Amino acid sequence: MDKELLEKTANELVSPGRGILAADESNGTMSKRLEAVGVDASAESRRSYRTNLFSTDGYESSISGVILFDETIRQSMDDGIPVPNALSDRGVHPGIKVDTGAKELAHHEGEKITEGLDGLRERCEEYFEMGARFAKWRAVIKIGDGLPSSACLTTNAHALARYAAICQEQGLVPIIEPEVLMEGDHDANRCYEVTADILDETFAQCKLQGVHIPGALLKPNMIIAGKDCDSQISREEVARMTVECLTAYVPHDLPGIVFLSGGQSDEDATAHLNLMNQMGVEHPWQLSYSYGRALQAEALRTWASGESGSDSSSREAFAHRARMNGLARSGEWEEGLEA
Ligand code: 13P
Repeated sequence: MDKELLEKTANELVSPGRGILAADESNGTMSKRLEAVGVDASAESRRSYRTNLFSTDGYESSISGVILFDETIRQSMDDGIPVPNALSDRGVHPGIKVDTGAKELAHHEGEKITEGLDGLRERCEEYFEMGARFAKWRAVIKIGDGLPSSACLTTNAHALARYAAICQEQGLVPIIEPEVLMEGDHDANRCYEVTADILDETFAQCKLQGVHIPGALLKPNMIIAGKDCDSQISREEVARMTVECLTAYVPHDLPGIVFLSGGQSDEDATAHLNLMNQMGVEHPWQLSYSYGRALQAEALRTWASGESGSDSSSREAFAHRARMNGLARSGEWEEGLEA
């Protein structure tokens, strides 16, 4: 394992003022998002929408890396330059989603286990050759009546750790993503408990598998009440509880935490991160973003409008969200900047 390379990449991914764009929606998910805004889904429409984002002027000042799906890492920009090369040329690290999706967990109705370990070493080797320098694997944990089960927590933590070890062996920084879903009517305290459990189990498994923590990143959910819960907490409470949970359960030699947005509004995702970075304490890790929807929602809507200039308006919408989140990295975002 090349620890020096892994640490260098991980630190660059969470360098000041920058974070990650998650553009690794599977073909199924991306197609649904395109169809929802009235665009026919195809390999070409997915390429066209995404490469337009990757052509945005100056976005590299607030985006350090882009997570790609297998289809996209093999596609090219309009001028024929392969996507991973176009990103690297701007100083943006290409990343790759390497799990093959969350499938039903046997004997555990409503719960999922993320698959993709078979052949992972060979796939990582190929992605590294194509220019990828980091990877992502997402486990999903659902809160419900009697859920999550300990089977769901332990199997997903085990898979995350095995994935992380293989990536590191192949020179890719693993983004370890155990996502506790916002679906449900649970309160924020329940989200805290479950997040604590999965983080604890995941880092215990990482230790067993010999994962080099200074060469990895964590992509967690924030501590938020379920979408259908009547007692939502304030933005300040989200920030406080999230930092408290992470401080207690995440190793302090991890270089960075890059949050997912998970269905939060664009502005909430920015405001929460901003508040965490505004606290008068020094966190042991960088607190950054790896947002999918919260960076792209407006850009996708604009691109799909089909009006003349929608390509450039879409790039502007993306650049704006990237800039706002870049400011939130140092607690310098304000609501007034959104206008
Ligand atoms: P969201 O920010 O839309 O949750 O996506 C991040 C991601 O990559 C989920 O795996």
